[in-house]
Amino acid sequence: MAASARSLVLRHTRLREVPGLPGLRLHLADEVLPLWHAVQLQTGDPDAALPYWAFAWAGGLALGHYLREHPDVVAGRRVFDLASGSGLVAIAALQAGAQRATAADIDPFAAAAISLNARANRVRIGIVDADVLGDEPPDADVVLAGDCFYEEPLARRVEPWLRRASERGMTVLVGDPGRRYLPTEGLERLATYDVRTTTELEDLERKQAAVHVVRPGAPALRT
Ligand SMILES: C[S@@+](CC[C@H](N)C(=O)[O-])C[C@H]1O[C@@H](n2cnc3c(N)ncnc32)[C@H](O)[C@@H]1O
Repeated sequence: MAASARSLVLRHTRLREVPGLPGLRLHLADEVLPLWHAVQLQTGDPDAALPYWAFAWAGGLALGHYLREHPDVVAGRRVFDLASGSGLVAIAALQAGAQRATAADIDPFAAAAISLNARANRVRIGIVDADVLGDEPPDADVVLAGDCFYEEPLARRVEPWLRRASERGMTVLVGDPGRRYLPTEGLERLATYDVRTTTELEDLERKQAAVHVVRPGAPALRT
C-alpha cells in the first residue's frame, strides 16, 4: 500500500509553494473529484475518504501564518499535528524551529503525502497513521489541530481530546475558518488571517480563518 499510495500522490498532485507561506511546498491537487475517483479505484472502495491530504485547508493555513508570526510557540518544543492531512502544519512548525514534529492522520494516503511533503521541505516528520483519538494525548509540548471541526462525529471526539491535552499542560492551538462544529466555548481567539484556499473546497477563494488556544481549566468546549 505504501508504495502505491505514494505513486498515486505523485501522479495526481503538483509540488508547489503554498499561497501566503513562501518557502513551504506541498504536493497539491487542482481538482478534488478526479483525484477522489482515482482513490476509489485504487482502493476498490466507493466510500473512500475524500483526498483531504491533497489540499492546504484554511485552518491549517491559519496555523501556518500564526507560526510564522510567533515561532516562539513551537521553537525548541515537541509538536504533535493532529489530523495532519498534507503535513502542512507539522512542516510549518519545523520551519518555525520546533525540535521535532509528529503528524497523525487516519488516511493512509495522508501518510504518503506527509512523507513526500516532508522530503520536499527537507524536514523529518514522525508519522502516526492511526486513530489516536481513542488514546490519551501524546507526550508532546504543543498540539496543533488544523481544520478538525468540519463534521460532527469527528468534532465530538477531537474536542475532549484537545481539552485533556491542554489540562496536561500542553499548548493546544486550533486553526479553523469557523466550521459548523467549532466549539463555541472554551477557546480563546489569538489571531485571524485572510487565507487563500480553493473553490474546489470552499465557497470562496479567500477565507477568514482564526487561530484559537484551548485554555487549561476553561469550561468544556461546547460543540
Ligand atoms: C480538513 S483536513 C485538515 C488537514 C490539515 N490539518 C490542514 O489544515 O490542511 C482533516 C484531516 O483529518 C483527518 N482525520 C479524520 N479523522 C481523523 C482521526 N480520527 N484522527 C486523525 N486524523 C483524522 C482526515 O483524514 C483529514 O486529513
